[in-house]
Amino acid sequence: MNINGIINGFSKMSKEEKLKLVAGFFDSPEKVLKELKSYWHSDPKKQTLFDEFSENTLSNFYFPFGIAPNFLINGKNYMVPMVIEESSVIAAASSSAKFWAERGGFHAEVVSSEKLGQVHFIWKGNPDKLERSMPDLKKALLEGTRNITSNMEKRGGGILDVELIKMVDKIEDYYQLKVSFETVDSMGANFINSVLEEFARILKEFLVNSPLFEGDEKDCEIIMSILSNYTPDCLVRAWVECDVKDLNLGEGDMEQEKFVWKFQKAIEIAKVDEYRAATHNKGIFNGIDAIALATGNDFRAIEAGAHTYACRSGKYQSLTDLTIENDVFHYELKVPLAMGTVGGLTSLHPMARFSLEMLGSPNAKELMMIAASAGLANNFGAVKSLVTKGIQVGHMKMHLFNILNFYAATQEEKQKAVEYFKSRKVSFKSVTDFINNHRSHPLGVKS
Ligand code: MEV
Repeated sequence: MNINGIINGFSKMSKEEKLKLVAGFFDSPEKVLKELKSYWHSDPKKQTLFDEFSENTLSNFYFPFGIAPNFLINGKNYMVPMVIEESSVIAAASSSAKFWAERGGFHAEVVSSEKLGQVHFIWKGNPDKLERSMPDLKKALLEGTRNITSNMEKRGGGILDVELIKMVDKIEDYYQLKVSFETVDSMGANFINSVLEEFARILKEFLVNSPLFEGDEKDCEIIMSILSNYTPDCLVRAWVECDVKDLNLGEGDMEQEKFVWKFQKAIEIAKVDEYRAATHNKGIFNGIDAIALATGNDFRAIEAGAHTYACRSGKYQSLTDLTIENDVFHYELKVPLAMGTVGGLTSLHPMARFSLEMLGSPNAKELMMIAASAGLANNFGAVKSLVTKGIQVGHMKMHLFNILNFYAATQEEKQKAVEYFKSRKVSFKSVTDFINNHRSHPLGVKS
């Protein structure tokens, strides 16, 4: 594919025009057009809905939508919807969910649900005066945004606090208005950003009109007004616990005492070594992101906030903690999760709506607890595999279908392969050999 030069006015073209232009860059434009259109929804109304989620939409990108059953959370059973392309994630979540359902299930609580936003500004003036004017400024800010906040207030949310943060020691003349919000069941990004942009306008107006300020003090330069994805006070805890003796893994597996010791070491390593911590936390996000995607939540925002939280000690660390006291194994995940169950894609995307219905139409706090439990489930499953049989056995078994699909295996070949690999190690080489040996027209591919 060879693209010469800049394409002007692409976003203004019709979808057909865009498709044609893009397909024209390939050797077989007709084939590309057919392929892209084959992923369009058969219902044109639904396709228009998907088209309009974003800009320059040409087609849809399919991801598997699956279910992890048997999640017992705070005594309630859930079938958890997950959207994920990695073959072993749902299997790991399901197996952990079942393991813990037989040991009391997951426990979870929302510690706090506060969101944050900031107006960043440069102001050349006497900081004491700004400090002194804060009660009046705060009043003006709250009154001036009533039209935006009144609906949120009716739902039990709104602006919680406005603080002036002096950052002149970091950047010359740099200040922030740091604003905390309760956005109830919505993630609240649009609400927060609308309030902050209005705050910026009111701040400028306030400086001009207040008799306290003179000369340069009457002006300020707004750098930006935006929510923060770091929400350490929108925090959820999920944990599992049982008697150490109940951590029996099953016949033929590692004995319980050794398992607990190795598990404990794995958790200690993820606390002291950031290379391991990143992978450990990635296992947590296998579960959390899959639910975020399934329910139309912003997984990038969640990841950004949680990874920052993982650095709060000044060093990147794992988000889980293990304690063993009086022979009770207590494994816990604490993570900030700014999630919503109303607004945005949660109500617009038909599959996100379906996912929420499948979860019993939870409120945002319940969804935070479900996502945290799934994160803990995936992480527990991963660490359990890592310290026992390793992850490749399970992972490659799930990956078998990907390799078979790579070779366009027939249903019959797939069935035979599943049988064959029940007692054999899956690898790209072993599957290539299997196909070569079982096809009447071998691939001619050297494994
Ligand atoms: C793979 O998606 C996730 C793991 O690497 C997590 C971990 O190592 O804990 C298995």
